[in-house]
Amino acid sequence: MSIKNEEQAVPQASASAPELRIRVGFVGCGEVAQIMHWPSLFQLPDRFEVTALCDVSPLVVEQLGKAWNVATLTTDHRELVTSDDVDAVLVANPNAFHAEVTLDAVAAGKHVLVEKPMCITRREAKQIIAAQKDRRVVVQVGYMRRYAPAFLDGCELVKAMPAIKFARVRDLIGLNSLIVNSTSRVIRDEQLQESLKNEGKLRDQALIDEALGGDPSPDLRQAYAVMLGLSSHDISAMRELLGVPRKVLFAAQRGGGRYLAAAFDYGPFVCQFETGIDKIARFDAHLEVYGSQKVVRIQYDTPYVRNSPVRLFVTEDNQRGGVASLDSHPSWGDPFVAEWQAFYENITQNKVPKTGPEDFVHDLELFGEMARLMREV
Ligand SMILES: NC(=O)c1ccc[n+]([C@@H]2O[C@H](COP(=O)([O-])OP(=O)(O)OC[C@H]3O[C@@H](n4cnc5c(N)ncnc54)[C@H](O)[C@@H]3O)[C@@H](O)[C@H]2O)c1
Repeated sequence: MSIKNEEQAVPQASASAPELRIRVGFVGCGEVAQIMHWPSLFQLPDRFEVTALCDVSPLVVEQLGKAWNVATLTTDHRELVTSDDVDAVLVANPNAFHAEVTLDAVAAGKHVLVEKPMCITRREAKQIIAAQKDRRVVVQVGYMRRYAPAFLDGCELVKAMPAIKFARVRDLIGLNSLIVNSTSRVIRDEQLQESLKNEGKLRDQALIDEALGGDPSPDLRQAYAVMLGLSSHDISAMRELLGVPRKVLFAAQRGGGRYLAAAFDYGPFVCQFETGIDKIARFDAHLEVYGSQKVVRIQYDTPYVRNSPVRLFVTEDNQRGGVASLDSHPSWGDPFVAEWQAFYENITQNKVPKTGPEDFVHDLELFGEMARLMREV
């Protein structure tokens, strides 16, 4: 169903004449689209313009269409991805629809920035990889943490370490709503039909069961959902920082699948992984790498409060028998803006995104192995 936004006026003017302004259509206009993506694109008016919105909720698209001055509004993603007003698609609807929308957008010759997880099963990942190769458009996975300057500086420091002895990846956070409800206003459709609300959940469950195989317990399903949702950020950043581990040594879930622990084998060292979601309104996500004379830590805060610093801590031997420590915040700016800047460069300079579909497959493989080990303990 398409909805006409009568109040739509002239497209937003850009301060400097753009060489190429990419017209973006959003599929899924919920929290992440409203709190993170829209303000990030608003900050980059010479590169992007949001020209179309799609959400299953007519109320959400109508209200946002007015607020953001966007003309093309629809409740059917196929209309959006085939629209002549759209060059690139942001996929930000529930996980279970990511593969379908990405495949339809790629088939229509559109570039795609797909929120994590790119998809749920390896079957879907294979389809996306084949479609992307066929149409030669950019498909980038929304792992914004990997575009943060503090993360990139941390990677350089770790690369220069003579030997790594140990590493840790942690993500212990409070429920997002504890932070979102007191820092943002999100337009939602509380009256959305039950059948539409449930469609994502049912699909999600079917795809998770396909990914896990066998007859997974509810706790294992929940653990896999945590891996797809939260741990995908941590594990993909771990891979960029340290490489792909040789294998998963151990993995277990507890607390109804909401608390996970694992150990990754990197040969000369082990990387310990720990994650959990509780009801304390804080966000402790970090990657920490230990050499014998230097420790490097990259610390993230909640993405829901824009521009929260991503910090880099370095602790080392000061060569005089003491300790030197540096707590730095290499630049201001939000990782979501950096992610869109990289997307722009990838499109205009014909580059392969570092967070592309093939890169994402490593995460699915590690999740599969972690889930296999979780069945055993
Ligand atoms: N990168 C990050 O840090 C980050 C943070 C939060 C969420 N996300 C990802 O973004 C995605 C959306 O999360 P959210 O928190 O915004 O969820 P949300 O529930 O707030 O929003 C989802 C929106 O999609 C709409 N929708 C549902 N089915 C649809 C369909 N078939 N077609 C079009 N629209 C549909 C819903 O009506 C809703 O408005 C998820 O995949 C999530 O993993 C990423």
